[in-house]
Amino acid sequence: MSWFDEIPSIATDSTLAAMEACKADTHEKKVDLSPGIYHDDNSSTWVLPSVKKAREVLLADKSLNHNLQPQNGHPGLVSVARELTFSDTLDGRSIASMQAISGTGANHLVARFLSDVLQPKTVWFSNPTWENHREIWRHVNPAINQRNYPYYDDRTSTIDSQGMLSTLRGHASRGDVIILQACAHNPTGVDPSRELWEAIAAVCEEKGLFPVFDSAYQGFATGNIDNDAWAIRHFATRSNGTMEFAVAQSFSKNFGLYGERVGALHIVTRSNESAAKAEAKLKKIQRAEITSTPSFGAKIVATIVQNPALREQWQQDLQTMSGRLQDMRKRLYDELTKRNTPGNWSHLLTDIGMFSMTGLSPKRVAVLRNNFHVYLLPTSRLAVPCLTTGNVEYVAESIHQVLTV
Ligand SMILES: Cc1ncc(COP(=O)(O)O)c(C=O)c1O
Repeated sequence: MSWFDEIPSIATDSTLAAMEACKADTHEKKVDLSPGIYHDDNSSTWVLPSVKKAREVLLADKSLNHNLQPQNGHPGLVSVARELTFSDTLDGRSIASMQAISGTGANHLVARFLSDVLQPKTVWFSNPTWENHREIWRHVNPAINQRNYPYYDDRTSTIDSQGMLSTLRGHASRGDVIILQACAHNPTGVDPSRELWEAIAAVCEEKGLFPVFDSAYQGFATGNIDNDAWAIRHFATRSNGTMEFAVAQSFSKNFGLYGERVGALHIVTRSNESAAKAEAKLKKIQRAEITSTPSFGAKIVATIVQNPALREQWQQDLQTMSGRLQDMRKRLYDELTKRNTPGNWSHLLTDIGMFSMTGLSPKRVAVLRNNFHVYLLPTSRLAVPCLTTGNVEYVAESIHQVLTV
């Protein structure tokens, strides 16, 4: 008899489960299309040239040490995190910013913070969303209701704008939290138009909702960080800069620093007094949970963004990544249409960022995995960066077989 016998069995997160299953698969043609991690055309995790150079700069610095960081995090990181997110749109707005343990940590920190200070009845997620959003909020406070707003229309592979707006207008209440993905929506690869973002902001204002942007893919949607921050900056400047909202920011994907856990949380408020109170509360939470954020990855990001030559290199690296994704989307589209594979695949060409929904039923996803050793998530999400010139034909042929035989 153990103290732990009563722990109920817990299903592994579906992304991690697919990755583990593929790792254990010994088939020579296996293809893991589950992780949201950028790979190069050799299926290797890519170290960005800008990151390599920044590492050299840091390691050559004789004063580099491993001290704890200030409670807000690395000052350079916090400053560049703000600049990349808001550019000059803050213009005197009061904001509390903290380094966080990547996007997951920033999402957790904002959930903990809002659960304590706002005590929302309900948190709203897009349907579908990154599966960890629910886990994080459940973990922080299971008493907060979790509800979905319509987002993806799988019949048309587009956003259900009307469903989304009318659900929020009809059912959301003052003080509810709404999670919005800033760009390159995971898992659908479909983002709101600027017009729709304006309508979403208007609903948030009308209904008194508290928006939390999850910004995990800035630079991945269009290859341009300013375009990809448009929605956040719209919220920051709208209504003479009176909206309060938060941004949970990750540097995992856009700097390829997955394991270094670099991120930030920003709370945009209406007054210096509110920002100071928010900051004090965030520091209190961070102290209890982690004391100090990791420093090496933070130094890499700060070094790149603050050095004009490295920043220029980083912009090119973003173009390299987003360009390869576009190329792979086109190749998959061509291979499927060449075979007359049933379904409408044109959204592959217009989807944005790392992911696309293939629309395969869970049963077909299982056949693809069991018979062809091609791993998608059960939701049918396909991670485009795991496609290569070497495997895209096999993937297309396997999808074709699954849909036709
Ligand atoms: C929408 C979204 N938010 C946040 C994250 C968190 O990523 P990380 O904790 O690696 O920065 C991810 C990662 O896949 C994501 O897709």
